[in-house]
Amino acid sequence: MTTPQHKIGSGFGARSTADDVLQGIDLSGKLAIVTGGYSGLGLETTRALARAGARVVVPARRREVAEEAVGGVGGVEVDELDLADLQSVRRFAERFLATGRSVEIVINNAGVMACPETRVGPGWEAQFATNHLGHFALVNRLWPAIARGRGRVVSVSSAGHRHAGIRWDDVQFERGYDKWQAYGQAKTANVLFAVQLDALGRDAGVRAFALHPGGILTPLQRHLAKEEMVEAGWIDEDGNALNPEFKTPEQGAATQVWAATSPQLAGMGGVYCEDCDIAEPTTGAGVGPGVRDYAIDPEQAARLWALSAELTGVNAFPAVAGSSR
Ligand SMILES: NC(=O)c1ccc[n+]([C@@H]2O[C@H](COP(=O)([O-])OP(=O)(O)OC[C@H]3O[C@@H](n4cnc5c(N)ncnc54)[C@H](OP(=O)(O)O)[C@@H]3O)[C@@H](O)[C@H]2O)c1
Repeated sequence: MTTPQHKIGSGFGARSTADDVLQGIDLSGKLAIVTGGYSGLGLETTRALARAGARVVVPARRREVAEEAVGGVGGVEVDELDLADLQSVRRFAERFLATGRSVEIVINNAGVMACPETRVGPGWEAQFATNHLGHFALVNRLWPAIARGRGRVVSVSSAGHRHAGIRWDDVQFERGYDKWQAYGQAKTANVLFAVQLDALGRDAGVRAFALHPGGILTPLQRHLAKEEMVEAGWIDEDGNALNPEFKTPEQGAATQVWAATSPQLAGMGGVYCEDCDIAEPTTGAGVGPGVRDYAIDPEQAARLWALSAELTGVNAFPAVAGSSR
């Protein structure tokens, strides 16, 4: 059954933290994989899941940095993964599958935002490749372990999906690059991925969600000039946060942890969440609350799945990937 894209009145909100949404939830015996789980929201997600008893695998592009960041957090393992390199994705998945373990929670959290034009692999635009294609290949390769876990796959998207839908006629920005359009497309892809994975995986007992975590000052803004952030009203000239709506990293991690673990979402999936609830649809222009229709459109979700399978050469659902059932 399709889950309506409407609030459910979770009782949590923008100021809830990851620990708040985990109150009373015991994750002992469960295994989570959190990409980018060593910086910003990912690090808070790793810490909170581990505190609730989960074993957490943190696949990292910079292994030493990750080991230092999660050092001292019990139950956390660091491995290597560069999402912009499909061979690295394959190697990580093979190492994980070789352990024979199941995975109950996958949080596709790693990401890059508004970087200068960068090409990876066979010339792919780096935000689409890292934020979407790398996670697409990762989940498809890990599918046997995910299916055994019968759990949830969570895509950390962004209100930035409202910058752009999928540019079907120029997905790789070969006709001119715009860093925000490219981030928007990649974050729309994260939502569409969750829509199609939920459709494909629900019969196996696996559900998928996407979400906007809120606005949080983290190393994600590394590619933005200070002047750009001052102009946007995010920080003052001295780098202090100005926007009262900004969340702390603990609050920013809450929606992804809620989507990954909350019993309030039992039997649901394929929806975009924000502020620890399912979000409402919006037709509004600019970045703000709500999800745009192009990001939750089942037909575009199926089309993106087929394109991603073709580009990456990986597909755990070859028989049905083109369908939008
Ligand atoms: N912060 C916000 O306001 C905000 C708002 C909306 C959405 N989001 C989303 O939230 C997620 C987490 O962001 P954050 O704010 O926590 O940013 P962050 O602190 O910069 O963390 C991003 C993580 O992704 C990792 N990563 C980047 N490229 C990678 C690659 N090629 N392979 C593997 N890992 C890679 C980074 O690793 P390195 O440190 O080694 O580079 C880092 O650990 C992102 O998907 C972002 O789009 C954030």
